[in-house]
Amino acid sequence: MAVLSEFSVLSAIMWISCLLFLPLVAGSINSRLLDSILVNLDEDSSACGHYYNHSCGKYNEHHNNGTYFHFNQMLDLQVKQKFVKLMENLHKNSQSPGFNESSVEAKVLRFYTICSASPRNISSLEQYLQLAPPGEGLTWPQFTPSDSKWPQKPFNWLETLGYLHRYGLTNVFLSLEVEPNPLKGSEFRLDLRKPNFEEKSQKLNSFVETLTMLYLMKVPPNEVIPLARKIRNLEESINELVMGIEYIDGELISIEELEKRTGIKFHRLLEQFLGQDVGPGFQVVAQQFEYFSSLKKLMEKQEDHVVASYIMTRFGMYLLEETTVGTESTKANIHEINNIFEKLRNEFLLQVEHNRLELSPRQKRFIVRKAQEVILNIGNIPRADDFRNFASHYYEGLEFPPGPLDYHREHLKLLQFRTQKRVSQIQQRTQIREEYFHLPDPTTAEASFAYYVSYLNIIIVPLGLLQEPFFAPDSDDVFKYSLMGFSLAQLFMNAFDTDGITVDSYGIQQGFKSERFDEALRCMYRNEIEDVDDSLSDNFGLMITYNAYLKNNKNSTHTDFTHLPPEKIFFLNFGQSFCENSKYIFNSEKDQERLQQIVKGFEPFNKAFGCRRDGPQQEKCQVW
Ligand SMILES: *[C@@H]1O[C@H](CO)[C@@H](O)[C@H](O)[C@H]1NC(C)=O
Ligand SMILES: *[C@@H]1O[C@H](CO)[C@@H](O)[C@H](O)[C@H]1NC(C)=O
Ligand SMILES: *[C@@H]1O[C@H](CO)[C@@H](O)[C@H](O)[C@H]1NC(C)=O
Ligand SMILES: *[C@@H]1O[C@H](CO)[C@@H](O)[C@H](O)[C@H]1NC(C)=O
Ligand SMILES: *[C@@H]1O[C@H](CO)[C@@H](O)[C@H](O)[C@H]1NC(C)=O
Repeated sequence: MAVLSEFSVLSAIMWISCLLFLPLVAGSINSRLLDSILVNLDEDSSACGHYYNHSCGKYNEHHNNGTYFHFNQMLDLQVKQKFVKLMENLHKNSQSPGFNESSVEAKVLRFYTICSASPRNISSLEQYLQLAPPGEGLTWPQFTPSDSKWPQKPFNWLETLGYLHRYGLTNVFLSLEVEPNPLKGSEFRLDLRKPNFEEKSQKLNSFVETLTMLYLMKVPPNEVIPLARKIRNLEESINELVMGIEYIDGELISIEELEKRTGIKFHRLLEQFLGQDVGPGFQVVAQQFEYFSSLKKLMEKQEDHVVASYIMTRFGMYLLEETTVGTESTKANIHEINNIFEKLRNEFLLQVEHNRLELSPRQKRFIVRKAQEVILNIGNIPRADDFRNFASHYYEGLEFPPGPLDYHREHLKLLQFRTQKRVSQIQQRTQIREEYFHLPDPTTAEASFAYYVSYLNIIIVPLGLLQEPFFAPDSDDVFKYSLMGFSLAQLFMNAFDTDGITVDSYGIQQGFKSERFDEALRCMYRNEIEDVDDSLSDNFGLMITYNAYLKNNKNSTHTDFTHLPPEKIFFLNFGQSFCENSKYIFNSEKDQERLQQIVKGFEPFNKAFGCRRDGPQQEKCQVW
């Protein structure tokens, strides 16, 4: 089993999926990275004017074949390609006599084989629904034999929801999630609130789409149109209830009290979901009680088959969306990234040492300590000594029996397994920061965005970023600092933005008061900066990255692979992550404006491109 790295195995099994394969390009690393930047460049548009138009002006021309529209989506696609390659290697390995049939690698391969052999088409929804009925002893309405009535036994929408929550469904009629305690990030609880209708995956969308879903789920053709109207009306009524309700802080409340205040028998939902009895003292965090009281009245007026069909349609949509990705990683990557991160951290500590904010010794100690405690989790895996062992242990409860298997059944089993892992966080009393990793969420898994977990002071760098053109361990530092470095610095600064600065590494409020910090914020408001925290992490992040790069590259006026000065490459590569095909991306103006804000008035940028600084200068808001 020497061919596969431990990381590959672990990541593969965590983000199992069926994917396509396309070959990768060859060439020398630095020139390859440089070329990938230069093709996007529009030389006719001045870097000193609209920087996005300069650095990304030709992105549309070169990335227009419909596979992806944004830099990060391109990385996602590459991840999938590598994943498939990995599976091919694993398959070859499995043919050798020493292959351990009960190892975690065997499990990965088994699932992958089942899923690639299965016809991936949306008509298979019917099979899922047969396997996942609305409850024990129940079927979905359209599968009732013509000589009997639906339901055969009483239908209860709360029980059905609880039952489907086991597969990871949520946000239908209500949102029930396992969430960290915001006041103590090491604790997890069940969080109950109104549903959300903002994203495409959170509602029915167009009428045609609803008709298609019902048709795919084998609702009799003559019932499709009237049923579509009814379930859309139901969703509209829920949406109306939701609209008037404000977000408020949740309160820890017992089930007994919650049922008294809302009239909804939530224990039926929870017992189905958790698969165990829930006593009256069981606690959840709940909010928006008036929503639930109105929901109760609304649900009393509904016909069961409409409610069941609505839940079923949303479940079907969830199953169609449920695709995620995985990739491999190497020790060289991890070593290099940690190395850069330490340089950035030092640069920040140096600034704190200068104490521009005139912090008291106690405040300074707090900031220094928090900075030193930031954990970098590369690849979203727990910091265990033996990853293979960890993976074997983690997937102990997941078995794919020998013989021919039904993909739909095994897929549902995997979804259930993930939900159980999530729920088990509640029982696990305290979270050890070093062991933290984010349980992949089937509907929101993002392969190629790094993020900061504020309640535990951890930066997660997903596997999708450990690849070209985002990161190559053996490339020139100018590439490594300007993309990966900047990303890390930005996230690191989240620990010290207006929220971050008030809490410690476990998300516990510590309070923070600094007249100079407040003055810097007022300065930003005077400049009409929309998002102060973004601006803070963008600008300061760029500064520490650039300084760290200069300090660690004595010969920063010259590279051996191009005549272009390194400072220019630095800013071009940095700009690249903002590139997107604006014909397809709805929100592009905002990102372009953000890029513009970052480079505007940054002296090293002006110097690199020879931009003159005439005209009125914007007030410079320095924080740290
Ligand atoms: C940037 O490019 C877009 C698209 O070509 C164009 O519409 C816009 O006017 C340009 N902006 C500036 C400031 O040059
Ligand atoms: C789309 O374009 C990119 C970049 O030019 C290329 O790498 C990729 O292979 C293309 N995909 C298809 C399906 O042609
Ligand atoms: C095969 O893998 C299982 C599970 O990881 C392990 O318990 C067992 O010892 C392995 N067998 C051999 C021969 O390595
Ligand atoms: C689609 O799936 C159905 C049910 O699984 C199967 O009967 C059918 O042959 C599949 N169609 C294609 C084109 O693969
Ligand atoms: C720095 O770059 C110059 C070329 O401009 C080269 O001659 C010199 O060897 C480099 N120095 C180091 C330490 O790499």
